[in-house]
Amino acid sequence: MKKVIHQKLPNKQWNEREKLRDKGQFWTPDWVAEAMVAYVSHDADLIFDPGVGMGAFYTALKKVTPRRMFFGIDIDPEVISQAKEKGIFDRNAQLEMRDFILNPPQKLFKAIVANPPYIRHHRLSQEQKDQFRKISLLNIGDTLDGRAGLHIYFLIQALSLLDKSGRLAFIMPADTCEGVFSKKLWNWISKKFCIDGVITFDQKATPFPGVDTNAVIFLIRNARPQEKLKWGRCLEPQSRGLFEFLKNDLLDDNFDDLEIYNRSLEEALSVGLSRKPLEDHHFEFTLADFARVMRGIATGANEFFFLTKEQAKNLQIPEKFFLPAIGRTRDAEESFITEETIKRLEEKGRPTLLFFPNGVKWEDLPESVKSYIQEGEKSGLAKRALISTRQPWYKMEVREVPMFLFAYLGRRNARFIKNEAGIVPLTGFLCVYPRSNDKEFIEKLWQVLQHPSTISNLQLVGKSYGSGAIKVEPRSLEKLPINSTLVKEFDLHPAKRELTLFA
Ligand SMILES: C[S@@+](CC[C@H](N)C(=O)[O-])C[C@H]1O[C@@H](n2cnc3c(N)ncnc32)[C@H](O)[C@@H]1O
Repeated sequence: MKKVIHQKLPNKQWNEREKLRDKGQFWTPDWVAEAMVAYVSHDADLIFDPGVGMGAFYTALKKVTPRRMFFGIDIDPEVISQAKEKGIFDRNAQLEMRDFILNPPQKLFKAIVANPPYIRHHRLSQEQKDQFRKISLLNIGDTLDGRAGLHIYFLIQALSLLDKSGRLAFIMPADTCEGVFSKKLWNWISKKFCIDGVITFDQKATPFPGVDTNAVIFLIRNARPQEKLKWGRCLEPQSRGLFEFLKNDLLDDNFDDLEIYNRSLEEALSVGLSRKPLEDHHFEFTLADFARVMRGIATGANEFFFLTKEQAKNLQIPEKFFLPAIGRTRDAEESFITEETIKRLEEKGRPTLLFFPNGVKWEDLPESVKSYIQEGEKSGLAKRALISTRQPWYKMEVREVPMFLFAYLGRRNARFIKNEAGIVPLTGFLCVYPRSNDKEFIEKLWQVLQHPSTISNLQLVGKSYGSGAIKVEPRSLEKLPINSTLVKEFDLHPAKRELTLFA
């Protein structure tokens, strides 16, 4: 992933972008900042921003409700001094250099507004991660999955500093309500606070063009939870409706550039706050009733384990040490993978062979295989993170040949593929195993998997990205709703899971 971007961006731009990524510094555009500030500043004399950056929210505040006090903190001295130099902050603004996670202010606020840093968890320090644990235990009474990033703890910490009847507006990536941790998080928030509204953005109205994230604004009050909330979808950039809606306490609901729905909290939480309302959300059947799902094979080093026919020939490794495999979603663009598909890939020089020396003792391996393994060892492969957990290191992960694949992260349609070539997939795909080997069952399931209503339900279980791509994890794909009318139409009987669950 990194390599690809590196090739496309000139060096200076690449470094700048990486610097931003390390610090999670993506500035909020004025039309969004003004709307958010209009919502929180309703009854408040002082507005707090826990990650002030270049002061987007203070700039907005000066325009929307001048003469309010502002308190901003940021961990990055460079960014604070740049903002000061630019003259963004005047005497109504107090600034502090401070870490909001490790050293939050010891007071409550009537208004908190933020675009919290979005930093991938592998870029965070151990000290920060230890603090995350403490924050979630203290507030939620439980820990959250390790994939919850810094922005999630910004939200929890900020909510814990929200005064009675105080308001909070946070703009966050959609993973906040789509991630594996989100059920626990929203369970806590929805029981303790009043979720007034949620704003999402149409792809063409994204507040962060060029950043592959699907942004969502959460508008929350420290008040008794209510059964209804307002859910909006912003259709145009620079939307005036967004500002008016938030300024008028989410009361009006007639704007050209903003779609607004009144949703029940129960439905919104069940479907997911980043997703459109869905009246019938009590699904009788999910994919797990008919199939089980596993991710594709992670080799740990595709350049060594995943070879082209040509490479295999040059290395003189016998055919029986390979499994036919497919790596990239782009290598399977149609609904079927057949012998023909594999032949075409071979002709294009794409790798199609997975090195699979499993089950043969070292002394029984042919010289060509031994020397290939020794070469890999010399180049330090055995020490790589995933590979070093294997015994011996060159032993490949095992997957039964799946009947269906699911291409789960693509800018084009996510979709199911029928595997008629007996291949195993790498991690670009998920493996889908029908719960019965009965031919008729498999054929019916295949019809159901391709049905537009099944494909459209993917957005209910997937993680959405700015570009419109959806990523679906194996456990989430098992939760994919299958419409009961389809189940009836195809007379598809759900298998008794308890009896057929293996693995
Ligand atoms: C996404 S930017 C948003 C800045 C600004 N509020 C805006 O909306 O344009 C997040 C800011 O949080 C700061 N930040 C990152 N980690 C922080 C921490 N632990 N405590 C306080 N600020 C932090 C970053 O330096 C960055 O300026």
